[in-house]
Amino acid sequence: MCGIVGYIGKKNAVPILMDGLSSLEYRGYDSAGIAAMDKGQLCMSKRAGKLKILAECLKKNPVKGAIGIGHTRWATHGEPNEINSHPHYSCKSDFVIVHNGIIENHHELREKLKKEGHKFRSQTDTEVVVHLIEKLYKGNLLKAVCAAIRQLHGSFALGVISTHHPDMLVAARKDSPLIVGVGKGENYIASDVPAILKYTREVIYLDNNEVAVLTRDKVALYNTKEAPIKKKTAKIKWDSASAEKAGYPHFMIKEINEQPQVLKTILNHRIKGNRVVFEKFNISEAKLKKINNIQIVACGTAYHAGLCGKYILEKLLRLPINVDTSSEFRYRDQIITKGRTLIIVVSQSGETADTLASLREAKKKGAVVASICNVVGSSIARESDGVIYTLAGPEIAVASTKAYTAQLTTFYLLGIYLGRIYGTVSDKATKKLLGELAKVPGLMTQSLKEHKKVKKVADQYIRRYDYRLAEQLMFLGDEIWRFKDPKKALAFAQQCAKKSHSAYGKRFGDFPFLYLGRNVNYPSALEGALKLKEITYISAEGYAAGEMKHGPIALIDEFPLVVCITPQSAVYEKMLSNIKEIRARKGVVLSVATEGDKEIRKKEYSDYVIEIPKIDEFFSPLLVALPLQLLSYYIAVGLKCDVDQPRNLAKSVTVE
Ligand code: AGP
Repeated sequence: MCGIVGYIGKKNAVPILMDGLSSLEYRGYDSAGIAAMDKGQLCMSKRAGKLKILAECLKKNPVKGAIGIGHTRWATHGEPNEINSHPHYSCKSDFVIVHNGIIENHHELREKLKKEGHKFRSQTDTEVVVHLIEKLYKGNLLKAVCAAIRQLHGSFALGVISTHHPDMLVAARKDSPLIVGVGKGENYIASDVPAILKYTREVIYLDNNEVAVLTRDKVALYNTKEAPIKKKTAKIKWDSASAEKAGYPHFMIKEINEQPQVLKTILNHRIKGNRVVFEKFNISEAKLKKINNIQIVACGTAYHAGLCGKYILEKLLRLPINVDTSSEFRYRDQIITKGRTLIIVVSQSGETADTLASLREAKKKGAVVASICNVVGSSIARESDGVIYTLAGPEIAVASTKAYTAQLTTFYLLGIYLGRIYGTVSDKATKKLLGELAKVPGLMTQSLKEHKKVKKVADQYIRRYDYRLAEQLMFLGDEIWRFKDPKKALAFAQQCAKKSHSAYGKRFGDFPFLYLGRNVNYPSALEGALKLKEITYISAEGYAAGEMKHGPIALIDEFPLVVCITPQSAVYEKMLSNIKEIRARKGVVLSVATEGDKEIRKKEYSDYVIEIPKIDEFFSPLLVALPLQLLSYYIAVGLKCDVDQPRNLAKSVTVE
């Protein structure tokens, strides 16, 4: 969480910092700030709220300087107000710092520093770092930063500048991502590549406990004992356009539409003849042959991909497969057999704190660790024994879409790859499976062409509930129906309700969604519900349809919308029975069904139907994902929600 950026060169740093922050806003958007130094004078500007508020403020009160640091915050310690926004100054305002991470021993450090006379301005954990540097500074900024970070517990990516060194920017990292961008006569730091991609493609990925000293013409690297170290620069191959909206109104819809191309890319890279190939996957066949159990670990959407991965791998490998959320796995008394347990960690960002901690825990216990990761060079990718990149390109929207289907695809390929090694997937089976997979990009394109039908369902849903809500607020059923437009009905009801009724604030609170699926589409139900709640704030639950009778059925009346994932499959009839049970209780049903399914369209089953193209049940989660993503997207747009940056969330959760 939080994004940091820094620049040193000859240009005005401020537009570069603001530009960088705009590509890092996905990491947090509670507040933003920058500091720049001009002729040895430090100047700072920071504001609560999104970056655009800071941009407005900079228009009125410009800041300039050829060296600077910037920050976009996801609050952990201290509320997201202006004082707690980064950068943070030392007492004499001669040092200034931006930080991503959590300083776990900040409390004791703060108490100590306070006793020594340091005056704190904010409630953040970060501020102790700048006071510590101020205290330890004896004329050498590198030494002071190293001495300070040797006292820190927790995680940090830091950018530090000081009036004592107007031509120097110092950066350091431990457990929070940080890269150095190497330019010509200028250098950069950033939490992530897109922030600097417009300016340079040459980057150095800092590892834990590494410190970088940037001047205009040089980047020098050290360990925390100030001993110089050498590292290679990497060249970024993708361009900045892939991290831009390309004419779409939101990153999310752009990324939804990219899925057919992402799948094509994966299949082109990974399939050679009748073989799945993972180049640079550094776990030997001999090692893999010793594996007798697999544990999948991930968070959020990646966990849902992992859950589907369990169904896929179980079917193809006939091995015991377990799946767990990282936050649970890391603290459990896990059963890991040295050299026999394969841990598969799944992460888009490759920086999720709980997933990274699980990976380290599993490694310590002797597991073989493979990762399915999107961000190249991320911590998880680098710390795994073998990494399979998902090749989805940068995913910017907080709600994960293309990374999810790329993770699913990777699981299918990994299943085939391992199945060949274990002898559970024959040549003939490989051919059939790869043949089915090859159809998916085309079917996805076909499915996305129908996006207007999904939008119509989303609009109908909003319309229906606008009326319902208006009706409820008015307590006057008939009165409200005289309005031709539900929005007018709602506005009228709101007006009346304002004085006496506070229920509008709970909009949709009474109209939850329930997503039901079975077998490989049980994870699809969980993912559908997550997508909806994170971008629309409507409460949504995902359930295994067979579990409905064990509790969730109590929710059913005419208010919730029950999304039933019912493609043609071995469990189709079971799903129909579930739907009947819902209908018997006046439940409203939206079915996601295979094209041409006439049965499900009957009124006794569905109020709304969204179709997916025909596909083998085993691969259906790849197609089911798309309309569910679109449904959430269009409802969010209809409700005027902030689609790409939903409240309280951040793209990569780098704190526990
Ligand atoms: C997905 O829409 C969410 N934003 C979130 O659940 C995400 O999948 C989770 O935080 C895991 O992130 P990772 O894949 O980067 O590890």
